[in-house]
Amino acid sequence: MCGIVGFSGNQSAREKTGSGKKVRDILIEGLYSLEYRGYDSAGIAVTDEKGKITVVKSSGRVEELDHMTEKNEKMNSGICGIAHTRWATHGRPTTANAHPHSSEKVTIVHNGIIDNYVDLKKMLEGDGYVFLSETDTETVCHLIDREYKKTSDPIEAIRNSLDYLKGSYALAIMFNDRPGEIWATRKDNPLIVAKGEDGCYLASDIPALLHHTRDIYRPADGEILCLNGEKVVLFDREGREKNFEFSHIDWNVNAADKEGFPHFMLKEIFEEPDAVRRCVSHRIGEDGLPDFSVDGIPDEMWNSFDSIQIISCGSATHAGYVGRYLIEALADVPVTVNTASEYRYMPPAFVGKTLAIAISQSGETADTLAALRKAKEKGCTSAGIINVFGSAIARESDYVMYTNAGPEIAVATTKGYTTQVAVLSLIACKLALARGRMTKEEALSYCDSLKNAVPDAIGNITERRDEIKKAAMRISKQHDVYFIGRGPDYYAGIECSLKLKEISYIHSEAYAAGELKHGTLALIEKDTPVIALCTDGMYYEKMNGNIREVRARDCYLLLVHSPSFPHPEEFSDDRFELPEVPAVFTPIVSVVFAQLLAYETAVMLGCDVDHPRNLAKSVTVE
Ligand code: AGP
Repeated sequence: MCGIVGFSGNQSAREKTGSGKKVRDILIEGLYSLEYRGYDSAGIAVTDEKGKITVVKSSGRVEELDHMTEKNEKMNSGICGIAHTRWATHGRPTTANAHPHSSEKVTIVHNGIIDNYVDLKKMLEGDGYVFLSETDTETVCHLIDREYKKTSDPIEAIRNSLDYLKGSYALAIMFNDRPGEIWATRKDNPLIVAKGEDGCYLASDIPALLHHTRDIYRPADGEILCLNGEKVVLFDREGREKNFEFSHIDWNVNAADKEGFPHFMLKEIFEEPDAVRRCVSHRIGEDGLPDFSVDGIPDEMWNSFDSIQIISCGSATHAGYVGRYLIEALADVPVTVNTASEYRYMPPAFVGKTLAIAISQSGETADTLAALRKAKEKGCTSAGIINVFGSAIARESDYVMYTNAGPEIAVATTKGYTTQVAVLSLIACKLALARGRMTKEEALSYCDSLKNAVPDAIGNITERRDEIKKAAMRISKQHDVYFIGRGPDYYAGIECSLKLKEISYIHSEAYAAGELKHGTLALIEKDTPVIALCTDGMYYEKMNGNIREVRARDCYLLLVHSPSFPHPEEFSDDRFELPEVPAVFTPIVSVVFAQLLAYETAVMLGCDVDHPRNLAKSVTVE
């Protein structure tokens, strides 16, 4: 989904320009923070004191745009600017189609879709405008230009243009004879304006603002804004100035938009490839190896403790199980995974110097915060794996590894969990290297797979909803569903089971496959759905036996497997083949199948997917 960032520096910021508070830096930083939204090209426009607008565009990543502009003198002497990451809708991801788009007097960036752009384009071509791109956005640019030439009044130009537009838009606009001003308006697409100590900002989503301010205003559809560095001025659709108040960001989760998705949960599942890629890329150095210096963690820290205690709740705990498996298997460092609400009464024995890792998407979970305080009282060094910037647990941890998954709004975590496992996977590699249990070559291959193959595999699964809907049809008619697996498949199964329970309200359990016969097998009867997670051939023989046990009771067996796991036809009633990734990473991949299975099942049952009954996104009560 496209990302928009704008900044107009106030007088003091302009005087400080030499101090690195450059318009370009702020805009590029903002684009990086919006990468999780998914995009395929990027661009930036900066105005100097005289109104000269310099535009630079890239058909690649923000990083490329960053390199293209960092030494650009014109870029670095700007007083205000707008920038954009484009998720192509009309026209291929080319430089010509990248935003910003310009006309004679106007430069704009746009998020959304103009439904009637073909007619508008014909009208504007009739007025003599020449189009350089395939985008709908360029029609908006020329339309505003035409209206501005009639009135030389930005408010009238915007108001009159909006009368022509059908569709959705968030627009940031600069007029080249009004240096220092950014104009904005929106309809059915997110836009936020804010005021900070260096000037005024606008963005399509909160993360782009977080480093500068938490005081924001979300304009209503049709409102028109002017940011001029010193202040934000608001006008209604009729062009009348109106008062407004900034509100302090408290993650008002209901304010963000779904951007075309029917539910936040589905949007967030589709964001997982970019979220995981961004989370991992952020912590892989130039040498291709794990690098936590970006989190302010010195290398020596990783050799400064004898054991790890993971503290968490819910899905964060399930991520912790996978983390324990990886860290113990790869680095041979003892790890305990502790339910925070129990830990505070009965922490495990402390073995030597201990690192306490608090895992929390919200960073506000009261049980986890209380347990973290307990661990610190016991002398632990603490590190947080957190998504929400500046949250309570982040503030109280000695070190913080932000997952950068972006705002997660659905109560059932998806990208929050997979990015937590991604960070834990990097920690396992870092520890294995630090303790001589992994060669550099092995680590390079490991990190490359985590950064590329894993996000690609997640993306593959998100494109296969039809296959998953078939399985959901069977599941949605049942009252009990069992997930079975061995090793990491079992740990993944625990999270798979929670996903199904918490949004479809179908009872589910996850079992170590070898454990089923010690009691719970008594519950398996004809048509009981059993989902077998089989991703590593080393477990084939034993899983084969466990699957035969449940099939002998006429269950419905859905096999979720890696291509390399033998899967004779008679082995299952249905199967879902996962994309191939190294066995250590399968929990991040198989869980996405389960997230979508839970989602489709819940939708079929008419459940409130984003706000499951009884549950809250951030459990700030103990
Ligand atoms: C996850 O789907 C659940 N909503 C819940 O278990 C959640 O993981 C748990 O409450 C912990 O939340 P946190 O990660 O924000 O601390």
